[in-house]
Amino acid sequence: MSTDQHKQRAAEAALRFVEAGSVIGIGTGSTVNHFIDALARSDINIEGAVSSSEATTHWLKAVGIRVLELNTTGNLPLYVDGADEANRLLQLIKGGGGALTREKIIAAASQRFVCIADRAKLVERLGEFPLPIEVIPMARSFVARQLVKLGGQPELRADFTTDNGNQILDVRNLPLQEPIKLETELSLIPGVVTVGLFARRGADVLLLGDSTGVQEIRP
Ligand code: 5RP
Repeated sequence: MSTDQHKQRAAEAALRFVEAGSVIGIGTGSTVNHFIDALARSDINIEGAVSSSEATTHWLKAVGIRVLELNTTGNLPLYVDGADEANRLLQLIKGGGGALTREKIIAAASQRFVCIADRAKLVERLGEFPLPIEVIPMARSFVARQLVKLGGQPELRADFTTDNGNQILDVRNLPLQEPIKLETELSLIPGVVTVGLFARRGADVLLLGDSTGVQEIRP
């Protein structure tokens, strides 16, 4: 069984959290695309979805799911999204697809965050995956220097502009022993838009797919 099939299993398992007639938040990435496809195939009719990226909006519209604005929906009962890494406290690294800012906003506005991933994303300690940080373009070098002072090795994501018109620094070697503390510290650097650490608001449920089935983890 391939990693993609593991992702699909986790995505399908998230359907049981979706209530008919509700408006839900939807993240970005290949696992989420499986979730959207599974939702479209299911008999669960939702009122619509708040999308975390242009890519997801495109995918939702392609299967006939209405895309709504967070400004008009108010808070949401459910957010479903993937992750690049997750620990057992359900703290996450996200942003591999570059959609971290809108993802963090929708996660914050949602009552329950169900994270879907293949099992390989579960780690003992966050930080093997380089931490994505979205920055205002004119602050890129300044932010990079602050990250180096903290021990990080930032690298500009090449040929990439976020849906918000910003850039991404992918940062290796940051001290990630205390994810909540680091998320707070990095978020305070002027020019940082969003840090791809989802520790202060992590997931509420983690669904991990592998060749044996789907494991559910709660903090
Ligand atoms: C996008 C993300 C994704 O959730 C993360 O990159 C996982 O992607 P995939 O489901 O393709 O493995 O944070 O910004």
